[in-house]
Amino acid sequence: MRFRVTIDEGSHSFVCDQDQAVLSAMLASGCQSLKVGCRSGGCGVCRVQIVEGEWEAGTMSQAQVDAEAQRQGYSLACRLYPRSDLRLRAVGRLVSAVAGKRDGALR
Ligand code: FES
Repeated sequence: MRFRVTIDEGSHSFVCDQDQAVLSAMLASGCQSLKVGCRSGGCGVCRVQIVEGEWEAGTMSQAQVDAEAQRQGYSLACRLYPRSDLRLRAVGRLVSAVAGKRDGALR
């Protein structure tokens, strides 16, 4: 089954299979809305808040998203699997924004 994933209030969207991590689907679509790091649930740069929809999450670093944060709707896109259409807000961007500023690449 395939679902539509929309990031940041409709500015970017793509289709994701239920067995595909949202970050992988985003990369396959050519979309670059989320930052990409380890791709294994460890670094936290792909952190998102699920605004709407049903999902399941795979194993991820509790240091990046602990159980309470997961209950509040936070997850890591590289460990996030859709169970319905999803609306997400990119929150890992804050980390990369600091790095981007240091590199002079902040928009
Ligand atoms: S890319 Fe590192 S936690 Fe998702």
